[in-house]
Amino acid sequence: MKQPAKRALALAILGMAMLAAEPALADQTSLSVINWWTAGSEAKAMNVLVQMMKAQGVNIKNDAIAGGGGAQARTILKTRLMEGETPGAAQIKGVEIQQWGHTGLLANVDAAAKAGDWDQNIPTEIDNYMKYKGNYVAAPMDLHRLNWLWYNRAVLTKAGIKTPPKDWDELIADLAKVQAKGMIPMAGGGNGWMIATEFDPIALETGGPEWYRDVFVKLDAKAIDSPTMVKALERLRQIEKYTPKSLAGRTWNYDTGLVAHGQAAFQIMGDWANGQFEFLGVTPGGPKVGCVAFPGTANDFIYNVDSFIFFRQHSAAGREATIKLAETMTSPKFQLLFNKYKGSIPDLMNVSLKGYNPCQLKSRAQFLTASKEHNLVPSFSQNMSTYGPPTGAFIDSLDQFYTSNESPQAAAAAMAKRVEVAKSQD
Ligand code: GAL
Repeated sequence: MKQPAKRALALAILGMAMLAAEPALADQTSLSVINWWTAGSEAKAMNVLVQMMKAQGVNIKNDAIAGGGGAQARTILKTRLMEGETPGAAQIKGVEIQQWGHTGLLANVDAAAKAGDWDQNIPTEIDNYMKYKGNYVAAPMDLHRLNWLWYNRAVLTKAGIKTPPKDWDELIADLAKVQAKGMIPMAGGGNGWMIATEFDPIALETGGPEWYRDVFVKLDAKAIDSPTMVKALERLRQIEKYTPKSLAGRTWNYDTGLVAHGQAAFQIMGDWANGQFEFLGVTPGGPKVGCVAFPGTANDFIYNVDSFIFFRQHSAAGREATIKLAETMTSPKFQLLFNKYKGSIPDLMNVSLKGYNPCQLKSRAQFLTASKEHNLVPSFSQNMSTYGPPTGAFIDSLDQFYTSNESPQAAAAAMAKRVEVAKSQD
């Protein structure tokens, strides 16, 4: 994935800002909401928003653009803006919200934040991302945990494995046992984003939360080009060896299907896979499929919060609809139903999780403990820890390493160099 050069990006943003001054032509009680939720579970969850807004007289166009991780959706968002099409809202996460704040295109949704008391009801770690220069410009809809390992119980039993792996060595031993029985040990590796998503918990397991923050939040070159990174890459290589090459180009939800239907033993994926298992009729934590913290990360929580930025609307009706949208996204009623389907948990910590599955209950409990114990880390692969170009540099480096014979040492050095270059772009 190529990152735009600094100058090109600045020009693009200038173009967008100029277009923002143009009157919008679209019917303003219709708002398009750009996202990348095209898997069955994701579409079902998104439909909750569409229906709840419809009941309030606002027509939401669910503008879902295929591509897990959202690279395509984010590109299309920029293109649309340059062509003069202003959406109502778009899925943008983490630090990237600040970059969008700079464009001057975002709507202030303080009124919704005040009505829902976001300051009080949403954990500070999440709430902070939503503000630009002290004003709310985005709203969170969910809280995903990334460091999970999903497994099919029958496949493990056939391979003679009694309990899911608790540490790295057990995981590797289990993968070998599944392979020896001629079954797929690990489903994954479909594209750069998926490779980075799998590497996310491997990195945390290898280096721990402090090192993880040095690398992915502070972008410290010494931590990146280090023996710890080499070790983490060696581990990614081990996983790659147990992942069939034929899965290259497949989506994360295809892989979830393999585990759900007993064709593969394991998948490393955030808990949007949890929603997809449910969608396929297989409840994680139930008799067929299990979830366990990624080995070695039971006390940690890599978080990923899906949030939406709002665009300034020119009509009073459009502005009113925007506030309603932000209010609805963060209302207990919406968050309960949406997150149940999505596999995640609500951002609102004070709502009860009645009817949620065991993995979601574990996720809430673990978020609260990890938050107290300083074991929460923002996911780099899901754009939570840093802005666009460095994230792209990490993903490109991992993709290059995974799909070639590059050595872990060379990959760690190349990663540090790529991240240094990316730091000079914004
Ligand atoms: C992530 C997003 C998740 C999930 C996943 C796959 O970036 O945060 O909610 O949708 O992509 O599409």
